[in-house]
Amino acid sequence: MGAGATPPPAFRRTGTCLVILVTGGTGHLGANLVRRLLADQAAVRVLVRPGSRGEALDGLPVERVEGDLRDEDALARAVSGCERVYHCAARISTRAGRERELFDCNVAGTGNLLAAARRADVRRVVVTGSLSAVGHEPGRPSDETMPFYPFGQVLPYSHTKALVEHECLKAVVAGLDVVIAVSTAIVGPHDHGPSRLGRTLLDFARGRLRAYVPGGFEFVNAADLARGHLLAMERGTTGHRYIFSTQFLTVEQLLGLCASALGRSVLPVRVPGPLMSAAAAVTDPLVRRLRPGAPQRFTPAAVRFLRSQRRADTGKARRELGYRPTSIAEAVAEAYACFRRRGLLR
Ligand SMILES: NC(=O)c1ccc[n+]([C@@H]2O[C@H](COP(=O)([O-])OP(=O)(O)OC[C@H]3O[C@@H](n4cnc5c(N)ncnc54)[C@H](OP(=O)(O)O)[C@@H]3O)[C@@H](O)[C@H]2O)c1
Repeated sequence: MGAGATPPPAFRRTGTCLVILVTGGTGHLGANLVRRLLADQAAVRVLVRPGSRGEALDGLPVERVEGDLRDEDALARAVSGCERVYHCAARISTRAGRERELFDCNVAGTGNLLAAARRADVRRVVVTGSLSAVGHEPGRPSDETMPFYPFGQVLPYSHTKALVEHECLKAVVAGLDVVIAVSTAIVGPHDHGPSRLGRTLLDFARGRLRAYVPGGFEFVNAADLARGHLLAMERGTTGHRYIFSTQFLTVEQLLGLCASALGRSVLPVRVPGPLMSAAAAVTDPLVRRLRPGAPQRFTPAAVRFLRSQRRADTGKARRELGYRPTSIAEAVAEAYACFRRRGLLR
C-alpha cells in the first residue's frame, strides 16, 4: 500500500491484525487461496509481478506490493510486518530454452523470499511444491518419503521444483519455519492464465479438442489445495512435505466430467499413446520453430506425463493434518462457471 493510500477493509478492522503475504496471488492457486483467506477475514498482502495482468485480483480487498521474486528489495518490502507467508509463485513451463528463467524465478527466487522472511521474523512459510518433484516407482503411489530421481527424462521445471524444496530445507536449518504443500494438477475457477489444463477444458467446450491420449494423472480441486495450504500452515510439521490431491482420473474420466458439466455425450477420438508420442516427437520441434511461444498441448513431455499414470498417496496429509479432499467433478463445473462469468464461454 503506497503512502496515503486507503487501506483495504481487512486492514482497517484492527491495528494489530495478522498480515498474510501470498506470492503468486494472480495465478490459479493463488487466486483461490487469496479468496479463501479473505473469506476467513484475513488481511492479505499480495506480491504482484511488475507488468502482471493481475485480473485474478480485480475487486478484491488486498494490499498489492509490486515486485519480482528476483528483486530482493521488493521482497523485503513484501514480507515486512507479515506473520505468515504462502509462497505459491513459480514459473511453469514445459518448453525448452527457458531453463535460466525457471531457475532464477523458482530456485533463486524462493531462496530470496525465504531469506527475506527470516530477516523479517515471519513465523511460518508454506511453500507450494509439485508432485513432479516427488519420486515415483512403477505400481506404487508416490508418497512424501520418495526422493526425486534427477537422472531420468525430467523437465527442467521439475528440477527447479526439487531445488525449491532444497531451498526450503536450507532455510529450516537456518532457523525459519517452513512447510511444503505439494500440489498435483490443479482444476478449478480463477484460472486466468489459463493453465495448460484450463486451455484443454476450454478447447473441449469449444469443440476444438479432436483427440486425446489415454493415460491419467492425479488432480486436485483448487479449493482442496487452498484448504491444504491452510492446514499445512496450522498443523504441519516444520520441514515436512505434504501431498494434496483430490483423486486420480484417467484422461477419459476427466473428459467425461467435462462432458457432463457441459451436458454433452461425445468425447474426442482416442489416439494410442505410442502413436501420439511419435507424432509429438515430430511436430514439437516444428511448431517451436514455426510458432515460437505458441502454447502446445501434445509436447513429448506432456504425452509422457499422461502415459506414466502417476498416482499419489495423500495418507500423510489425511492423518496428520485432517485433510479431506472433495471432488474433481465440482472443480470442473466451477472452472466452466468461472470461464462463463468471464465471457470466455457462452
Ligand atoms: N498448475 C498446476 O497444475 C500445478 C501442479 C503442481 C504444482 N504447481 C505449483 O503450484 C503453484 C501455483 O501454480 P499455479 O498453477 O497457480 O501457477 P500460475 O497460474 O502459472 O501462477 C503463477 C504465479 O506466479 C507468479 N510469478 C511467476 N514468476 C514470478 C516472479 N518471477 N516473481 C513474482 N511472481 C511470479 C505469476 O505472476 P504473473 O501472473 O504476473 O505471471 C503468477 O501469479 C506453483 O508453485 C506451481 O509450481 C502447480
